[in-house]
Amino acid sequence: MKRIAVLASGSGSNFQALTEYFRQTAAAEVAVLICNTADAPCLDRAAQLGVTCVCRSPKEFAGRAAYDTWIADVCRAHDVGFVVLAGYMRILGEPMLAAFPNRILNIHPALLPSFPGCRGVEDAVAYGVRVAGITIHVVDAGVDTGPILYQCPVPVLTGDSLETLRRRIAFVEHQAYPRVVEAYLDGRVTLQGRRAVWKEELPWVNGS
Ligand code: GRF
Repeated sequence: MKRIAVLASGSGSNFQALTEYFRQTAAAEVAVLICNTADAPCLDRAAQLGVTCVCRSPKEFAGRAAYDTWIADVCRAHDVGFVVLAGYMRILGEPMLAAFPNRILNIHPALLPSFPGCRGVEDAVAYGVRVAGITIHVVDAGVDTGPILYQCPVPVLTGDSLETLRRRIAFVEHQAYPRVVEAYLDGRVTLQGRRAVWKEELPWVNGS
């Protein structure tokens, strides 16, 4: 059983989707939720789902490296071999990247390399895109720059508000993220340099 740590800062809907998916497939287990925000709703979800959660503020630490070293220690203490970012609003530094090289995935609510950063959906809508989407990628030292494993378009519909578009993006995220994590863990998708090689391509999720 592969043990996963999920890092989240906010609502935690992807954390919940991952936890529920892996409870059904048993390919992996979400062993711990690590959170940096004391009042984040993801903590309530973890309590409801019965997932161990650990939350400490970065302010308690001397700096970014010290905080990331603490996260790596928590992962080791929970015998975790793989890390999934799910709305984690901090940039991971060297202590985590060195502890889990190419073993950390992130999900972004836009079609990278367009609209990186923490306002992906807003920036895409403000730009006027007709096709939004999601990207799941391996984490490197940059902001949303790591090798892309999977992308899925989400059309912008006439009459969409930010909220309705966000909802459809979230639906696609919840379907796709656990399956891409599973495929990466199983070796069904591997990296050749920056490029993902799939043994069998994962279909797009219909988010319309
Ligand atoms: C998602 O849109 C994800 O793409 C981004 O942060 C959001 C997290 O949502 N990285 P939730 O906390 O999983 O509900």
